[in-house]
Amino acid sequence: MFLLVALFLGVYLASAVGPVKPVRDSSFVAAVYEHKVILNPEPHVPLSRRDALRHMQKNLDIYEEQAARAAREVLQRLSCMARRYNLYLVANMADLQPCPLKTDPSSSCPSDGRWQFNTNVVFSSDGLLVARYHKHNLYFEKAFDKPPQSEIITFETPFAGRFGLIICFDILFHDPTGILLEKGVRQLIYPTAWMNQLPLLDTIQFQRAFSLGANVTLLAANIRNDRLIMTGSGIHSPFSATYHHASKGDPEEGRLLVARVPVLDPRWAGQSEDAEEGGGQSERTSSVPADSGYCRRDSRVDRPPAPSVPPSNPAFTSSMMHDPFRFVLLKETEGELKVCDGTFCCHLRYRRLPRGNTKELYALGAFAGTHTVNGRYALQVCAVVRCAALESSSCGQEVEEAESKMDFLLKGTFETRYVYPSVLASGLVLEQPESVATAADGGVTMKHSNVAGGLVTACLYGRMHHLDSE
Ligand SMILES: *[C@@H]1O[C@H](CO)[C@@H](O)[C@H](O)[C@H]1NC(C)=O
Repeated sequence: MFLLVALFLGVYLASAVGPVKPVRDSSFVAAVYEHKVILNPEPHVPLSRRDALRHMQKNLDIYEEQAARAAREVLQRLSCMARRYNLYLVANMADLQPCPLKTDPSSSCPSDGRWQFNTNVVFSSDGLLVARYHKHNLYFEKAFDKPPQSEIITFETPFAGRFGLIICFDILFHDPTGILLEKGVRQLIYPTAWMNQLPLLDTIQFQRAFSLGANVTLLAANIRNDRLIMTGSGIHSPFSATYHHASKGDPEEGRLLVARVPVLDPRWAGQSEDAEEGGGQSERTSSVPADSGYCRRDSRVDRPPAPSVPPSNPAFTSSMMHDPFRFVLLKETEGELKVCDGTFCCHLRYRRLPRGNTKELYALGAFAGTHTVNGRYALQVCAVVRCAALESSSCGQEVEEAESKMDFLLKGTFETRYVYPSVLASGLVLEQPESVATAADGGVTMKHSNVAGGLVTACLYGRMHHLDSE
């Protein structure tokens, strides 16, 4: 059982002081490290054990340095609390397992009698290996095998209760991610090697959206690789986000993020009276704290859109992220729009603010169907996007910058509970939606005003797990 191909994809470090005092303050300190990974240049060519180890050592040297740094920073921040600290560490690596070639030739066992899995390993503060998770949803990973059975893996920490483990592409799928959420796991650790894809699936955008939509904490460590357009890591709780997104050609070697986040595990000591979700409420609302000064009830975008807004502008089809979206243009400075893809409809009320570039073209898009390029998964999506140019055919293309600011209320009625809301502003800056409310009929309404930057994308990204196998 040796590592034949050493492919470190990312590393995550979590640390905390404990036990923490009053229940209301229960929190822990998380750190993620975006590693500029030294990739094996040819992952499909097996390395000798000696070469593989040498390759791993190079990465390990960097991890060791960062682990020491994380512990030190954490100590500085928390030194006033003068308590003992724990450092739990999750790393992503390859795991080689013998498989039953002889006893079960029908299994997925490769001819060399070994599975090689894309794996998260978790070490507790006393150095014990406490959990191991093998990635289920591979994304064109020649070097890795899909485990014969899917794994739902969680581990307990003394400082924040339970964490679940997922890897990269897993985040989009029911198995394991949906299952973990259904089991009430509210803190997920997520090493990833995610290629950024604007306008809907930039790394930090989707990490944030997932955390908000699933109401969980997501500790996301991407790798850094400019050529593969991989960057973007973050510590995302439903209440706050600490994130980093490198810009092109950024010379830095990696980035460590450290943030204090609240414990969300409902079974965590003292929080058990907090009933878990779905307790018969017809509406769930997550919003920024009441003292944030956003309570402008007079805003025109406040009213829910009238159900029967006629599609005022003609709808057209344009490809966004390889999916044929139905779009309508936002032609006025304010108004109400509706666009449908089949029976799935998206509503928008918007008001463009006078400042900024009024020439920029925006469109409201709807898509309901199965995404089939580079992975297959069923979607219902409502999105307002800035079009890349002034022609409607440019709507849905990749854009990073925008000057136009607008207040908006975006609504769709989804046939899934997995709806991930995001507001992405110019220059890959995330905004926390002012409010996101889910009604019993699946209606999800995202409202936002006082945007800090030009609007690039506002999106409700619904994953229809139950339709994936159709
Ligand atoms: C999110 O979870 C918190 C508890 O951690 C709960 O109070 C809140 O109502 C939940 N929000 C939604 C939208 O479910």
